[in-house]
Amino acid sequence: MLNRRDAIKLGSVVGAALIFPTKQLASAFSDDPPEVQPFSLPLSIPPVLKPTRSTADTDFYDMRIAETELEVLPGIRTRTLTFNGGFPGPTIRAQRGRAVVIRQFNGLPGPATVHLHGADVPASSDGHPMDPIAPGQSRVYRYPNDQRAATLWYHDHTHHLEGERVYRGLSGAYLLSDPVDAVLPLPSGEYDVPLMLRDAKFDSKGQLVFVPDDFMNRPTVLVNGRPQPYFEVKRKLYRLRLINGSNLEMFKFRLSTGAPFLQIASDGGFLRVPAVRQEIDVWPAERAEVLVDFRSVPPGTAIALQNVAALSENKRDILQFRVGGKGSWSKPEIAIPSWSRTRIPLVRGEIPGWPANNPLRGRATKTRRFVLRLDLAKGQFVINDKGFDPDRVDATIEHGSTEIWEIVNDDAALGIQHSVHLHLVQFRVLDRNGKPEPAYDSYPKDTVRLFPGDVVRIQATFDSHLGRYPFHCHFLDHATHSMMGQFEVVPRR
Ligand code: C2O
Ligand code: CU
Ligand code: CU
Repeated sequence: MLNRRDAIKLGSVVGAALIFPTKQLASAFSDDPPEVQPFSLPLSIPPVLKPTRSTADTDFYDMRIAETELEVLPGIRTRTLTFNGGFPGPTIRAQRGRAVVIRQFNGLPGPATVHLHGADVPASSDGHPMDPIAPGQSRVYRYPNDQRAATLWYHDHTHHLEGERVYRGLSGAYLLSDPVDAVLPLPSGEYDVPLMLRDAKFDSKGQLVFVPDDFMNRPTVLVNGRPQPYFEVKRKLYRLRLINGSNLEMFKFRLSTGAPFLQIASDGGFLRVPAVRQEIDVWPAERAEVLVDFRSVPPGTAIALQNVAALSENKRDILQFRVGGKGSWSKPEIAIPSWSRTRIPLVRGEIPGWPANNPLRGRATKTRRFVLRLDLAKGQFVINDKGFDPDRVDATIEHGSTEIWEIVNDDAALGIQHSVHLHLVQFRVLDRNGKPEPAYDSYPKDTVRLFPGDVVRIQATFDSHLGRYPFHCHFLDHATHSMMGQFEVVPRR
């Protein structure tokens, strides 16, 4: 009998071999990357980008997309694609109610588009694959920031290239704050840390190798662009924003001490009630904000952030926290306190600022069904048997309406995971295989995990912008070939 993991391997190798020439695959299996000692490099935190100017209600930024050589592995220059020379790109800090306007200059030889993942933006600023910035040109994206505080991220979305573009470096964090966020007793400043994680494969010269869908052969996880870094933390409470910027890597996070995380937010912002979590699934494009409490950890303790879903042992420990701080410690056996004993007011109650228009109610007037699978005959990942066609609209939605989408992962036999991401909206996951989804995985979400064979129902209300937006699997290598569709929000008749 094949177990699930074997089936996964089989599924992907069969898929990849059909879609991509064997020579390309063979070369990827041959040369080993330069070795890096685990926990030998310090975590780097991408700088917060400064506006070029600000008015009463808007911050203006300039960014430049270009190929850049930089040091990812010690002593080696790696060719990457970057926003403003950063790998990952600079962090944008935005406030609800203040617009952000970014002029993106495309310094690549081909087209580029920039999408702000998780954001409610006009179609003209969504970075649709068919709405590119020509090489050598720039284009202005306008983000209204009229939504709840959330950990968003921006990335390239070029037609048939998004997988490779993001893999080579085109992504960055976009952290939106609001008045609720500002008044909660949450860690801020150096204690509020974005962690962008992603899969990678380097060749013997330390260059990034991109073989689409080759997840068995991406042995490296980068945290903010560094392999297995260490992070010197103080004996404080930290807010970590876990962002999975991988094309294919699925994380199930855990702390090596077994201490729990307090999850405060999901993809689109705060949970209604924070959740104590021993392990947290974060698949490609998903986000989780967690509090980690180092306050009573003995100085000198090392704690690993682990991925217990890693396919190989060397990908298990992805980051090491080194707890510093002053003072002697007399009870070294004590690890992180359990959340029930901490003095964080929000542990016990609801986080304020729940949308007035309660997303948990609302009546759906339409149900649609989307079936995702790898079509072995076509060598394509398809939705309802079709690959992406920019001229086709898969769902025409009247403005203001609420819909239920039933999404099926039909790849049980091949053991392939998928996810579904909708642009424009935050949705609610109603149920999975007929069982209600736990609250921490239900709302607010913009990307939903689908294990092989899963049937998931989501509910969304399309009451903001009109226009055409993509939805797709966010295993970006699947989206690229060609697991993507479009919905169009049209005026109410
Ligand atoms: Cu992260 Cu089409 O998006
Ligand atoms: Cu998106
Ligand atoms: Cu997929």
